[in-house]
Amino acid sequence: MKRIIIDTDPGVDDSMAILLAFNSPELKIEGLTTIFGNTGTTITTQNALRLVELAGHPEVPVARGAEKPLLRPFTGEGWRVHGRNGLGEVEFPAPQGQPDPRRAAQFIVDTVMANPGEITLVPVGPLTNIALAAMLEPRIVGLVKEVVLMGGAAGVPGNVSAVAEANVHNDPEAASIVFHAGWPVTMVGLDVTQQTIMSPAYLDALKQDGGQLTSFIRAIVQHYLQFHLDQGVPGIYVNDSSAIAYLIDPTLFTTRHLFVDVEYQSRYHVGQTVADWRGRRGQAPNCHVCLGVDSERFLAIYRQRLIGAS
Ligand code: RIB
Ligand code: CA
Repeated sequence: MKRIIIDTDPGVDDSMAILLAFNSPELKIEGLTTIFGNTGTTITTQNALRLVELAGHPEVPVARGAEKPLLRPFTGEGWRVHGRNGLGEVEFPAPQGQPDPRRAAQFIVDTVMANPGEITLVPVGPLTNIALAAMLEPRIVGLVKEVVLMGGAAGVPGNVSAVAEANVHNDPEAASIVFHAGWPVTMVGLDVTQQTIMSPAYLDALKQDGGQLTSFIRAIVQHYLQFHLDQGVPGIYVNDSSAIAYLIDPTLFTTRHLFVDVEYQSRYHVGQTVADWRGRRGQAPNCHVCLGVDSERFLAIYRQRLIGAS
C-alpha cells in the first residue's frame, strides 16, 4: 500500500482525483495539503475538507498551504475553468471539520520525518508547498519515497501559454526547486493527461451507474466540461486523476528518464518544463517523464473504482 500526501487545489479535476484515491485499495491517504491555483487557498481548503467528509474519511487531516507563490503575486485564472468556488459553481454545505493546526509545509515535514522512506508526495497543483517543505527541512529530500506530480508539458504545448502548464506556471520558482531538489520525481504532464478524455457519455454513465460520489462528480464537472467543449475538446482532459492512476498502476504509462529544467526568467516562456531529449545539457536525468498512457484501461479503472464506491 502506497502512503501518500496529496497537495491539491480543488478544483474539479482535483476532486475527481481525490475521490479516486480514496476508493483505491492500493493507496492510503495520510493527508491532504491545500494550495492556491484553481482558486484561492481559503476555498481550496474548504473544498478539501468537504472531500474527505464526502469520501467518508473525516479523520484524514487537511492542512492549509501557502496563500501565494514564493516570489510572485497569484494571478491564476483557474476560476474560469473550475468556477469561482472551485466546484463548478455548484453550492454545497460547509464542511463540518476544521483544518489541521499545522500549515501544509510543516504537516509534510512532520509526516515524512515520522515515516522515513514511506511517504509519496502527490502534488496536483502549484508546487509552492512542496518547495517550502524542502526548504523548511532539507532532510525530507532524502526521506521522501518519491514525488509524483501532475504538471508540466515536455513535448506538447502548454495550456496557459504556448509552452507552460498551469501548475508549473503558477509558481515556476517553486517548480524549479522541486525538479532540482534531488528526490525521485515522476512528471505526469500534459503529454499524457491530454491523451485521456472523459466524454459527456462517459460522465453520464458514471452518474447513471454509480451512487452519491458519481452524482457529485457529474454535478461539479458540468462547468469544467463546457469549458472544454467550448475549446473544441470532445470531453474533459483527465489531468489530476492521471497522477493517481500512475500510483495505482504505473504500467498504465510509459516514461523516459530525462533532465528536465524549469524556465522562470523568460518574458514569454516562464513556466516551461524543458526536457533535454538528447542530453545536450550534460546533466544527469532528474525526472521520469510520462509520455504514453493506456487511456482505455485507465478509464475502465476510474469507472470501476467510482461506480463501486458508496
Ligand atoms: O494544468 C492542469 C492542472 O491545473 C490541474 O491540476 C488542474 O487542477 C489545475 O490545477
Ligand atoms: Ca489541480
